[in-house]
Amino acid sequence: MVAGNLKMHGSHTQIETLLEAIRQEAQALSSVDIVVLPSFVYLQQTQNILSNPIVEWGAQNLYLGISEAFTGEESGAMLVDFGCQYVLVGHSESRHVFNEDLALVAAKFKAAIDAKLQPILCLGETLEERKQGETKKIISQQLESVIQAAEIKAFRHAVIAYEPIWAIDAGSTATPEEAQDVHAIIRKWLGQYDSAIANTMRILYGGRVEADNAADLFRMADIDGVLVGGEWLEAKSFLAICQAAC
Ligand code: 13P
Repeated sequence: MVAGNLKMHGSHTQIETLLEAIRQEAQALSSVDIVVLPSFVYLQQTQNILSNPIVEWGAQNLYLGISEAFTGEESGAMLVDFGCQYVLVGHSESRHVFNEDLALVAAKFKAAIDAKLQPILCLGETLEERKQGETKKIISQQLESVIQAAEIKAFRHAVIAYEPIWAIDAGSTATPEEAQDVHAIIRKWLGQYDSAIANTMRILYGGRVEADNAADLFRMADIDGVLVGGEWLEAKSFLAICQAAC
């Protein structure tokens, strides 16, 4: 899977150019599951352009409940209304910039499952936590809180993305080996609960993925795809990453 998180980027014109380019190339990339995650405000446009779902799409966040007085928020049902199949949950920018804690991320994961969306659950440690040797502990806490809210069987309909915070939008990326080590921890952790879920779980890597490092990442046993940020502003770079996955 190659998923593109557009974050708070793009304009009507840019989205059209990007998605048209991706749509045109997608047929030749049919061995890759391509998912695009634009801002909420471009979901209608995304649905119009990608109406033939070779490329799937989703949103970058959701809130709890179905129809509530939560100004400025979007429910899972609303995302489904726009043809979304996926939603990011617990992206590091949501956790760290907007202070989403473990309980809220877990509740959002459950809300996504309840809405029949596939959450892409983002996990990752800060540089400080990595230096302290706390990567495994942090990842386990992030997973544990979700299992308590949603139960292991919910993971059958989820994707996990390991995004070390120190590698997002930074000059350095995790090496394929560093990413693989954490992916293996995640799979092993899931295996304590359910080996079938652990074996089939798609675990993506995110954090400075580019056409140049994508192929090496894909070669790793437990890396099943990537979650791309900045690179997918350019259709050419995003498509080069998709090609590396073939
Ligand atoms: P970059 O690829 O820009 O580092 O962003 C990664 C990311 O946050 C994807 O969700």
